[in-house]
Amino acid sequence: MINHQINYAAMVRQENNENKASSLKQLYTIVLFICLVCPFTGQAAGIHILPQPSGIEDFHKEISLKQKLKVFIDQNANLDKDYLLEVFTDEGFTVNFSTSEKGADVVFKLNATTVSEKDGYRLSVYGPQRKKQIYALANSTNGLLYALQSFRQLIIRDGEALKVPACEIQDSPAFGWRAFMLDESRHFQGKEVVKKLLDEMARLKMNVFHWHLVDDPGWRVEIKKYPLLTEIGSRGNFTMMREGITPMDSAHFSSSARWFYTQDEIREMVDYAHARGIVIMPEIEIPGHVTASLYAYPWLGASSKQEGKTVAGDLYDVTDPKMLQFFYDVLDEVMTLFPDGIVHIGGDEANYVHWQNSPAINAFMQEKNITTYTDLQIWAINRVSKHLSGKGLRMMGWNEITGENIRNEAHVQKSESETLAPGTVVQFWDGEVSLINKAIAKGYDVVNSNRIYTYLDYGYETTSLEKAYSFQPIPEGIAEGDKQKILGIGCQMWGEYTPTPARLYYQTFPRIAAFAEVGWVAQERKGSYQSFRERLKPLETIWEKMGYLNDQKEMY
Ligand code: ACM
Repeated sequence: MINHQINYAAMVRQENNENKASSLKQLYTIVLFICLVCPFTGQAAGIHILPQPSGIEDFHKEISLKQKLKVFIDQNANLDKDYLLEVFTDEGFTVNFSTSEKGADVVFKLNATTVSEKDGYRLSVYGPQRKKQIYALANSTNGLLYALQSFRQLIIRDGEALKVPACEIQDSPAFGWRAFMLDESRHFQGKEVVKKLLDEMARLKMNVFHWHLVDDPGWRVEIKKYPLLTEIGSRGNFTMMREGITPMDSAHFSSSARWFYTQDEIREMVDYAHARGIVIMPEIEIPGHVTASLYAYPWLGASSKQEGKTVAGDLYDVTDPKMLQFFYDVLDEVMTLFPDGIVHIGGDEANYVHWQNSPAINAFMQEKNITTYTDLQIWAINRVSKHLSGKGLRMMGWNEITGENIRNEAHVQKSESETLAPGTVVQFWDGEVSLINKAIAKGYDVVNSNRIYTYLDYGYETTSLEKAYSFQPIPEGIAEGDKQKILGIGCQMWGEYTPTPARLYYQTFPRIAAFAEVGWVAQERKGSYQSFRERLKPLETIWEKMGYLNDQKEMY
């Protein structure tokens, strides 16, 4: 039987899930209290938009809208009309697209003069300039989509009638990177679930879907040149919860279900995300978290090739040119599928014992003057970085790739001879927060995904909604001029304990709203938790109807 390694992050996740029951009780007590004290009336007083816009002028007047709306879209706006139709229909309107701005009820226009902030927008709802229109201006397609999302949150339902408050909104995001990560290697969820998540990301004005498609349990993306990656590598699922089941001998192996995305499906998902203003960053791991690919091709692994069979938790033998060529080939297919210019290569939790035990790898390092295994990892991913940058793409990786021993592990030595390629984006998840300052001082851009705040797989007792909301993406001690090196934030939905969509939604909602706001609103402008809770109420009503706010605390 294959001996499954339980990685460090998964162990932390397990710990955090143990105390969930009492945390839930607490959470529901709070929710119940709020429901009893302030019964939901369809629209709380004031204008409630989440994430909180930079500025709102409220004219304290409610306007009744016609059910049939004439909508004008600037020809250059590049908005997806089907998506707009979907949103308006969802909100109870029927839409005719109008070719003229004049006489339209709703106008979406690009205007770089009025709106200078990146992805900012202005939304005038029966304002003083255009007293009979809802008028959105932005300098980008995404800005217009954000105006659309704010508009839909303004709608007041009064019986059958649809009303909006007359107001003007001026808004732009604090950070350009507002990501949600989904791990589908541990448990494959499939297209329909992912589409629902993308819909909610769009509602929350989040703009990066980080898709963790490859890890030890399963390989989830079709690669034509290496068909066994999915024929064999996708057959696994996360097994930590059910003893004695391994990817290769699991009951699921004979299942007819398909646990991977075809390339056509990936393209469909990329289009779906783009229509909603979301880019997709795939994560394809090297050198660790690669067991699924070793079931397909054991010769890729340092220990697996020595043993002549797949060794769980093994690392790629990055000193083997055939292995690196395999990875370049995979990336070449991946970059045709995901056109958004950035690929995540993982790089976390590599267990160097597998390299230590290989005489060939040690000889290679000696020959090349590579002094530590951390350096060997950096040496390899710098080659990957070069391959990607040669094709115009950026590389991102978890913060182990900076060469620090972030958890003081015995098998890890700080890097000595290699330096991570310039331009690499570092995703901070673990270790002292000062590692962010260090990475920035070395010139790298950083996405802050501090696991203590942003891991959605952690139980609510460990990471309450309030704690999630308290997250500050820019740590202390970053010089004013370096703050732009923090590109933004990511929140991560790891999949070990989410075998069903209901579980996944339970862990994700409502905390994803806190991360959306933390990514949108500048730290110095952020309001109180109470204000956030107030503005969350209408979304909670929607998510309750969708089944996302459920009580699926049990894993099975
Ligand atoms: C991670 O949680 N291993 C990035």
